[in-house]
Parts: sequence; C-alpha cells; structure tokens
Amino acid sequence: MKLCSTVAAMRAACRAVRGQGKRLGFVPTMGALHEGHLSLVRAAKARCDAVAVSIFVNPTQFGPKEDLAKYPRPFERDHELLEQEGVELLFAPPVEEMYPAGAVTYVTVEGLSEKLCGRSRPGHFRGVTTVVAKLFHIIEPDAAFFGQKDAAQATIIRRMVRDLNLPVEIVVCPIVREPDGLAMSSRNAYLDAQQRKSALVLSRSLKEVQNLFDRGERKASRLIEAGKQVFAQEPSVRLDYFEIVDPDTLEAISEVHGPALVAVAGFVGNTRLIDNIVLQG
Ligand code: PAJ
Repeated sequence: MKLCSTVAAMRAACRAVRGQGKRLGFVPTMGALHEGHLSLVRAAKARCDAVAVSIFVNPTQFGPKEDLAKYPRPFERDHELLEQEGVELLFAPPVEEMYPAGAVTYVTVEGLSEKLCGRSRPGHFRGVTTVVAKLFHIIEPDAAFFGQKDAAQATIIRRMVRDLNLPVEIVVCPIVREPDGLAMSSRNAYLDAQQRKSALVLSRSLKEVQNLFDRGERKASRLIEAGKQVFAQEPSVRLDYFEIVDPDTLEAISEVHGPALVAVAGFVGNTRLIDNIVLQG
C-alpha cells in the first residue's frame, strides 16, 4: 500500500493507477476504522480494480464545542487494517495540506444541509461537502463508497455530485451493526460499560417503529411517538431528534407511502450517536 500525505503525491499516484486503465474506488474516512469502514473497502474492492482510502479528521465539520481534539487517531492500527484489506493507496494529509492558510472557499448544499444533524450541528454538512469535493478533485475516483449509517450525509453528497456534475458514481452501503444491534461508530469507543448498554435505545426505538409499520401503521406522527416512547424508558440518553423524512429531500413526511428514512440522534453522556432505518412503504 502506498501512503501519501501531500495533495500532489496523492493526485499523481491516483492518476498513475487510472492511467493503467484501472477503475479506481474511493472510501473517505476519518480513521479509527471498524467493520463499518471495512465493509466499504470490501464493496469498493468488489466493484473496482484498485481502492484508495483517505484518513483525515476534517476540522471544518466539527463545531467549536465538539470532539475534534479528542477524536480517536489510531493511525498505526488503521494502516495495518487497510494493508490487510489490500488497499492500494492511502491518503493521510496533515490539516495544513488540506486547508492552507487563507482557505475560505466552501461547498454548500443549501437547504438539505440544515436538516437532521445539520440542525443540531450548524456548519457540519458544509464541512463534509467541502472536504469530500476536495478529495474527489484530488483522487478523481470512478466510484466513491459511503455508509447508510450517515444517511443524510449520503443524500447530501449525492445531491452535490448531481448539482456540480462531478464524474463519480456514489455507492451507499448498508449499516454494519454489533451483534446486539448497536450501529458501529468510531464514537462508540467513548462509551463506558453502562453507556454502551444505554446506547442500545437507538436501535431498539427504530425496531419498535419497524414493528408498528409492519403491523400497518402509516402515520408518521404515530410511528415517531412509538419511537420516542422507547426513549422515555432510557432517561440517561437525551434525544436530539427522531424524524421520518423523504430520503432524497430530507423533508418531513406525514404518511409513509414509498421509502421513508427514520432517523434518530441522541446523546449518551457527552457522546452523540445516530442511527436510522428505511421503511419501504
Ligand atoms: P467516518 O465517520 O469515518 O465514516 C466514513 C464512512 O464510513 C462514512 O461513509 C460512514 O457512513 C461509513 N460508516 C461509518 N459507520 C458505519 C457503519 N456502522 N456501517 C456502514 N458504514 C459506516 O463520515 C465520515 O467519516 C466523514 O464525514 C467523511 C465522509 C470522511 C468526510 O470527512
């Protein structure tokens, strides 16, 4: 695996791979890799001839009071995992390389960026779309792989790619969960044993919504109420939002006829966790 830490070196390495006629897949990450990330790498390997991964804890997508400084950075371990997966190119730039002094240009997907996590994390999605657009320009992948875990992120990136005519196919892969249902996340490492148990309320609440839907309920307000009731039984977890939205526009829907994204976010102590399901109405 070739490790690049400058934009110029990564661009040259990616062009060399594509110059050999290989289809290049790309998996952007912030590191602290788990099976969720590795599932994206495997999907990329299955659909492409070579895979590039980035590890970059992107400061512009963190709010001033968020966990940028303490975000886990186990680089040696990540490097080894990616090597084992047969990744060809790893891009791990320092912050100054991605954001030279005076960088003031951003990519904003207006409207969508203020929905779901964007409401409680102002500026978050602007940071995500800016860094992903930059990474696409550096790497020039044929396809890029994202997780359904961050459903709004995937929607917003799809829209950015469409609106800006970026020549990259976006592939969204299913959520990878722990055996007990907790969606894998780098932030799960922050949880102590008690919090780890409490965190199950997210997936439990979604399961309750799925059950009610399977029994025929189509009214979003009733489905949301059922999900929120599950949260009420776990007072140690503070609910941020529980919403049912159109997966393409992220607008709230009142009745489920067609695919509907049920998205939830909550604070377990200081750790903010998210999860979602898609109802097939
Ligand atoms: P990060 O949180 O490291 O996630 C990288 C990718 O892994 C994202 O596409 C995310 O949706 C996916 N992922 C995380 N947990 C997953 C799980 N349990 N199952 C399936 N996929 C999962 O998302 C980011 O980084 C950043 O915002 C980034 C896109 C890299 C831009 O900075």
